[in-house]
Amino acid sequence: MAILVTGGTGFIGSHTVVQLLNDGREVVILDNLCNSKECVLDRIKTITGKSVKFYKADLLNIEEIEKVFEENEIDSVIHFAGLKAVGESVAKPMWYYHNNITGTLNLCKVMSEHNCKRIVFSSSATVYGKPESVPINEDFPLSTTNPYGETKLMIERILSDIFVSDNEWSVSILRYFNPIGAHESGLIGEDPKGIPNNLLPYVARVAFGKYDHVNVFGNDYATPDGTGVRDYIHVVDLANAHLKALDRAALVKGVERFNIGTGKGYSVLDIIHAFEKAIGHEIKYVICERRPGDIDECYANPTKAAEILGWKAIYDIDKMCLDAANWQKKNPDGYGE
Ligand code: NAD
Ligand code: UFG
Repeated sequence: MAILVTGGTGFIGSHTVVQLLNDGREVVILDNLCNSKECVLDRIKTITGKSVKFYKADLLNIEEIEKVFEENEIDSVIHFAGLKAVGESVAKPMWYYHNNITGTLNLCKVMSEHNCKRIVFSSSATVYGKPESVPINEDFPLSTTNPYGETKLMIERILSDIFVSDNEWSVSILRYFNPIGAHESGLIGEDPKGIPNNLLPYVARVAFGKYDHVNVFGNDYATPDGTGVRDYIHVVDLANAHLKALDRAALVKGVERFNIGTGKGYSVLDIIHAFEKAIGHEIKYVICERRPGDIDECYANPTKAAEILGWKAIYDIDKMCLDAANWQKKNPDGYGE
């Protein structure tokens, strides 16, 4: 029996596939490569010594999903595939709703037809909107401020309704905080298109001379140093949470939601200083205006994942920056053309 990984050539998907293969599990990847490159498969093979079966397929094309299920014995799915840029989702809402929601509906339809009823879904801390307090628990009120976040919330609800209609399903909703870092081999990592929106890939580019300085979006937040605080988590720790969620889904039917974070908050300046430590020289930054929509603080209470999944993050901020720096140094142009 195999695990289908949708979005398996993407940032988090590729790291999860490596952990799955290293753990001896059989994996099939489905990805339309709209935000990733096929050469990731060679990198995965170099790290693990194993080839992984790959389908260049689109979740918007139900026949392409059916082909994957007909040709393989899939017993569970890790569903990463989706569009994820907040700003782009505001500019192109129809594209985001169609891709993320219709893609998930198509996937669930085919899963159901093939009696495959175990799914681990990539949700996000963005579903907590502007939390009233930190750390954030799974039962905090949910709200969103942009179409991307709305798709995550809607998919969470769709999966819950599917379980209500058919109690044979196991749905594991993982709400990721801020994934950063890279595999320590430096062979796979985050490869954003164009100018990165997220802090870490931007800092990494400044660190290795691609850009002159980091724009720090505001220093008047209600945080210790005034800059935004987030719960950064090493992508390999995050990947490992999926293995635990799969094991749990094999045992328990129902819908469960887990925060996947470290439980620690770091400010923008903390991150810049940790990266400086990793590379051994200073990183220039300039304080500028707040970015619309940003919140002061966001970090998880990850106790539920520890108690129920037996999962805990093990890597600290220094290791996250060290591995991100190694990836950036070895791949200044990401995976290239
Ligand atoms: P990514 O863009 O690197 O990976 C997503 C993959 O999905 C890409 O390889 C893309 O080609 C593929 N894809 C998109 N639409 C598809 C479709 N219709 N059919 C087939 N493949 C499709 O993103 P990531 O950072 O690895 O994120 C993975 C998941 O985790 C996403 O669902 C994202 O929303 C969620 N998430 C990410 C973060 C983050 O900061 N990276 C935080 C919280 C949640
Ligand atoms: N920041 C800067 N300069 C930059 C980029 C970011 O100062 O160039 C700051 C932001 O203001 C924020 C912090 O760095 O305080 C982190 O910003 P990111 O853009 O890296 O991450 P966000 O927390 O804003 O959002 C990310 C994903 C969302 C996801 C959310 C929670 O982009 O999709 O984490 O998982 F929903």
